[in-house]
Amino acid sequence: MRYEAIWGEARIVAIRDLTPDIREFTLVPDEAPRGWQPGAHVDVEVMIGGLPEIRSYSLVGEPVGGMLRIAVKRQADSRGGSTYLHGLGEGARLRVTAPKSAFEIDFAHKHYLLVAAGIGVTPILGMAATLARRGADVTMAYAVRGAADLAYLDDLRAILGDRLNVYVSGEGQRIDLAVLLAGLAPGTQCAFCGPMPMLEAARSTWLAGGRDLVDFRWETFGTSGSLPSEDFTVRIPRHNLEITVPRDRSLLDALQGAGIEVISDCRRGECGLCAMTILDHDGPVDHRDVFFSEAEKAHNDKLCACVSRAVGTLTLDTDYRPDAI
Ligand code: FES
Repeated sequence: MRYEAIWGEARIVAIRDLTPDIREFTLVPDEAPRGWQPGAHVDVEVMIGGLPEIRSYSLVGEPVGGMLRIAVKRQADSRGGSTYLHGLGEGARLRVTAPKSAFEIDFAHKHYLLVAAGIGVTPILGMAATLARRGADVTMAYAVRGAADLAYLDDLRAILGDRLNVYVSGEGQRIDLAVLLAGLAPGTQCAFCGPMPMLEAARSTWLAGGRDLVDFRWETFGTSGSLPSEDFTVRIPRHNLEITVPRDRSLLDALQGAGIEVISDCRRGECGLCAMTILDHDGPVDHRDVFFSEAEKAHNDKLCACVSRAVGTLTLDTDYRPDAI
């Protein structure tokens, strides 16, 4: 899948806190955005250590006028993007892309299950609104750690009523994926947005139930891995290079900053274009993409440089050979 990035500028016209660490930004692009469907996202340029980097954020709700809403969770484990955005005030200007769709639902189905975990509620809110407005049979499971983390709860209750089921893990409530998926009517389409481990579990359960993967639509947070983000060392013998990848920078950005050409596209661990060959590693590799299969990740032959990280020292080779083209 190739994403077309059309960059422009936008002004922040409103900011509100949804939870203690999730802040919503309403943006008005200089050029009115063309139509988009719930599940779309925008790329935003953030400044990290004085250097520009790109982060992706789902658009919240349904399209309204010329405005775009994003909600940003301030991560303790942040690579710097959420900290930068939380430091901005109303009136600040941002470079943003036009909306791009990589997470879409098919409105021709009769039954839908929406599953959101944490900040994964952002693309799901608009889907719930559109499906409910169309009269679809839609239910939603919404999982968070604590009750204070329930962003957009009032909106969802107004849209879905008792078709919304909330799970607060801090109160002992957890989604039982096997039970949830086993109870679905044939032909139900599921849209899932949550952290990688939960997504992998949901996808395995979906397949184990003999369901068609075409009806399992998903999006994950590109930075949600199974290990905390820490500095690590990367070596590329072909370029006689050894650098440290700081905890707040992606491997891709660190390599490009060091002058290494790595082609990329989605920067969300989805397209696989930034894949690099792993020659050696002396610690665990934290695969944070959804491009490689579980078996491929277990073999540790390649990783997606835009999202994946490591502990210790990672020795890589670039798959990009400009002299071989
Ligand atoms: S750029 Fe698409 S997976 Fe890395």
